[in-house]
Amino acid sequence: MPRLLRATAFVHELLRAHLRPGDRAIDATCGRGFDTMLLAECVGEQGHVWALDIQREALESTGQRLKDAGLESRVALLEIDHATLRQHLKEPCQAVVFNLGYLPHGDKACVTRPESSKAALIQALELLTPKGIATVTVYAGHPGGREEADVVDAYVRKLSQEHYAVCHYGFVNQVNDPPYVYVIEKR
Ligand SMILES: C[S@@+](CC[C@H](N)C(=O)[O-])C[C@H]1O[C@@H](n2cnc3c(N)ncnc32)[C@H](O)[C@@H]1O
Repeated sequence: MPRLLRATAFVHELLRAHLRPGDRAIDATCGRGFDTMLLAECVGEQGHVWALDIQREALESTGQRLKDAGLESRVALLEIDHATLRQHLKEPCQAVVFNLGYLPHGDKACVTRPESSKAALIQALELLTPKGIATVTVYAGHPGGREEADVVDAYVRKLSQEHYAVCHYGFVNQVNDPPYVYVIEKR
């Protein structure tokens, strides 16, 4: 029997299978840089990644991780609110990654919020190429997390079937609100 992947591992497997050398991708919540690293590896030397975070600490952490791996030339680090994504980014992308919640080992008061996450997701979907995918990893367990999860859920469930395929991955019988994932594919 196959081992079921945790949410973050599931997202990484999906991105590995989806991205090709030369592709472009956005990490809309780069945090400690684990997702950015994976994206940078997948897009190769000719590709490009934009890694966004509202906190300087997150960008520094991600920047150091990339530098240690020699991947920093593939990634632009942007200290911005992802709700302003379209003001900064214009190029179509093959993948966009959202990992909601707070910075691991950081300020738990600085969390993604329902309305800005939704605004960012709307803008990210506009930048996706046909067949491009957006992943949204949702954490409902922290204060405010459930409200954000509900807003994201309501939004993705109403996306037109004609334009997007939306799927949902997560464990349904575990305690402590494990994260779960939406994958949105543009048709
Ligand atoms: C769960 S962490 C991301 C983890 C990250 N993907 C990794 O691999 O380590 C969520 C991140 O979202 C960031 N964040 C919160 N609100 C944001 C916003 N409005 N725009 C951009 N980033 C935001 C936080 O600063 C935090 O670093």
